[in-house]
Amino acid sequence: MAVDLLLGLQWGDEGKGKIVDVLTSNYNIIARFQGGPNAGHTLVFNGMKHVLHTIPSGIFHDSAKNLVGNGVVIDPVIFKKELDKLEDQKVDYRKSLLISRKAHLILPTHRLLDAASETSKGKAKIGSTLKGIGPTYMDKTGRNGIRVGDLEMTNWKEKYRALANKHEAMIDFYDVNIQYQLKELEAEFFAAVDVLKSLTFIDSEEYIYQAQKSGQTILAEGAQGSLLDIDFGTYPFVTSSNTTAAGACTGLGVAPNQIGEVFGIFKAYTTRVGSGPFPTELFDEAGETMGRIGQEFGATTGRSRRCGWLDLVALKYACQINGVTQLMMMKADVLSGFKSLKVCTAYDYKGDIISHLPYNIEAENVTPIYSDFKGWKEDLTQMDDYGQLPKELNDYIDFLEKELEIPIKIVSVGPDRKQTIFR
Ligand code: GDP
Ligand code: IMO
Ligand code: MG
Repeated sequence: MAVDLLLGLQWGDEGKGKIVDVLTSNYNIIARFQGGPNAGHTLVFNGMKHVLHTIPSGIFHDSAKNLVGNGVVIDPVIFKKELDKLEDQKVDYRKSLLISRKAHLILPTHRLLDAASETSKGKAKIGSTLKGIGPTYMDKTGRNGIRVGDLEMTNWKEKYRALANKHEAMIDFYDVNIQYQLKELEAEFFAAVDVLKSLTFIDSEEYIYQAQKSGQTILAEGAQGSLLDIDFGTYPFVTSSNTTAAGACTGLGVAPNQIGEVFGIFKAYTTRVGSGPFPTELFDEAGETMGRIGQEFGATTGRSRRCGWLDLVALKYACQINGVTQLMMMKADVLSGFKSLKVCTAYDYKGDIISHLPYNIEAENVTPIYSDFKGWKEDLTQMDDYGQLPKELNDYIDFLEKELEIPIKIVSVGPDRKQTIFR
């Protein structure tokens, strides 16, 4: 069976967690392929809200295996906290949760390095979640990292010590004041590593290969969004992994010709958290309303998300790079009550009208060109059938489908699992 992918098409927080949870009943395996605890994936069902950071969003379904792939970076301390929360909810994860031996570990000193790097950048900071993501991927590509599989070796603590010592020297090198008690951080880290070691480590590429061969269905769950991709995002204001479809191949060991459906997920408007350009950002009441009604606060850091109109130039780019086959539009309910809506359909780029994403989308180069749409008044949150959607929303959807040339198969009208309309 082919491996289906689910990816965020904007700057993250599109609602990936919700939709993976909704789709899990169709799959035997849910596999995270990149990112780490910088992600915050929210699931809402039975009146409860759950936020997952590293653990795949299929974990609440007994029927599915949940794999943390080789492309993911794991902070044992945060991972343990996630497990504790699952235990509180009586989720029996021991049999269903699998971890790739090739996934890299985030050390306490990676987090400190992240903080030192950001502080040293001053105003030019990335707005990192400070979870150690950048430094950990740097050690991975620099061939210095410690992997989950190393924990099964007797000498891993020596490796750890050497790397942590090097990191301390690097922290000193940054001319910033980072206060820390490494002994305390390490005690917490080693205790969490022991918990991690009680879970099942696997050679995940072989596991996925055999699962595919035996006809099991697999959904790969992305983290972040395409515009945060290390290659194709708004560099340097990006994360440190490939968040796009290719990242699923390298982050799980799935061959490109084994990819099936590519589900692209986007909000009916746009949000971004952290620094970096955002052409359709709103600084007026409309943006404030989106943030308030949409409760746009980061699931990992609690920071306010910046809000703006839908950017079709950026969305088309993301669909193109990922080979999206089906779209899912989230948070349509948040736009109820807007008299009119805008969608950016082109950029004025240094005086030229363009419809592709240029190298630089900083505000001094790019002015969005908008089409206007009539808004709708109806509350969508109780609707469960496509036929109930207001005409104005259908017009909005029809326009997007025509422009993107990809069908919108799901319209989400609230955070709950049940507030999902299939088309
Ligand atoms: P992810 O990182 O892509 O999984 O998304 P997040 O969980 O970080 O952010 C999405 C937020 O929107 C969460 O608070 C969800 O509960 C919420 N959400 C998801 N879908 C909808 C929707 O259709 N309507 C509303 N109002 N909220 C939604
Ligand atoms: P999910 O999976 C939204 C952003 C950070 C920062 C930049 C780099 O929940 O959609 P990093 O910690 O990776 O060094 O931060 O990327 N960022 C996210 N924004 N959703 C996420 O994940 C994000 N993960 C990282 O805010 O701008
Ligand atoms: Mg999120």
